[in-house]
Amino acid sequence: MRKIIYNQYGSNEELNIANIEEPSPLADEILIEVKAASINPVDWKIRSGELKMMSGARFPKGIGCDFAGIVKKNGEGNTKFKVGDHVFGWLPYKEAGTFSEFVVAKENLTVKKPENISFEEASCLAMIGGTALIALKEKGKIAKNQEVLINGCTGGVGHIATQIAKTFDASVTGICSGNNTETAKKLGVDVVLDYKKQDVYQLNKQFDIIFDTVGNLSYKKAKTILKKKGIFLNINPTGLLDILHGLISSKYKIIMANVKNEHLSELASLSAAGKIKPLIGKIVNLDEAISALSSLEKGEKVLGKTVITNG
Ligand SMILES: NC(=O)c1ccc[n+]([C@@H]2O[C@H](COP(=O)([O-])OP(=O)(O)OC[C@H]3O[C@@H](n4cnc5c(N)ncnc54)[C@H](OP(=O)(O)O)[C@@H]3O)[C@@H](O)[C@H]2O)c1
Repeated sequence: MRKIIYNQYGSNEELNIANIEEPSPLADEILIEVKAASINPVDWKIRSGELKMMSGARFPKGIGCDFAGIVKKNGEGNTKFKVGDHVFGWLPYKEAGTFSEFVVAKENLTVKKPENISFEEASCLAMIGGTALIALKEKGKIAKNQEVLINGCTGGVGHIATQIAKTFDASVTGICSGNNTETAKKLGVDVVLDYKKQDVYQLNKQFDIIFDTVGNLSYKKAKTILKKKGIFLNINPTGLLDILHGLISSKYKIIMANVKNEHLSELASLSAAGKIKPLIGKIVNLDEAISALSSLEKGEKVLGKTVITNG
């Protein structure tokens, strides 16, 4: 089978498409034919070695955490899925490797794909949706009718977070580039701000939750627009100080997404009910994937997720 691998941390130059033996699933695993896998910024952060504390030192490594596909083989004793089931799921950073024709996934990090969404859409859900659920529900304790600010509301995490916030009838203020205003409105954002022209601090508004998916809001300043019991959510901690701050402050939360079965199941239910739908901006095949990763890492603007398909 064909799979993108690398033998040491570094730039995109380390990546190559190798022909390797199809893996065999262990007792708690399943072999899946990958139909689609989506790209996330974390993929190049892992490849560069930035997250080696979590991704480990064993090589060769694969790349990609999100997948959707068809169950080909069950590990011994597994009964949750039948061969031929359509599924989606997530690989933890250490086991990344979904940019491949086949993948072995943990049975408990795989769920059935709702019939009303495509493999491409399903392959976008785990990382961004899991992060958004952990942030808004578990750390932010989002409640009905709250005022929520989402910085980066049309980005990967931001656009799913917006849709999840709307399931709580939140009033969402979203910050994105001016070109994406119409998309933000379609996603449900009530007040759209262009980050080049408008300043959220001039709105005279206080928020229950500020979800900074971009990582460029200062908590010190953001506190001035947080309600008394408001919570600031950061998914881009930049250093130990940020992490320490997150540990001691009840209003400032750092999120390191550890996607679990319950998140995948909830994302499947929300998708089946038509309440969330990932936006896809670009579809490439496995041969084009390294170049697509490279362009995204260099800052290419794609409105919606970039998805790798195996046809
Ligand atoms: N801690 C975790 O567990 C975790 C989980 C997932 C993601 N992350 C991190 O979170 C970040 C976002 O991930 P993602 O998948 O959402 O990335 P993404 O799809 O690239 O989205 C980033 C968004 O930020 C917007 N943006 C850029 N400059 C901005 C500004 N000055 N003000 C407001 N918005 C701005 C971009 O909008 P335009 O294109 O319109 O400029 C883009 O839509 C990445 O760094 C990723 O590694 C962390």
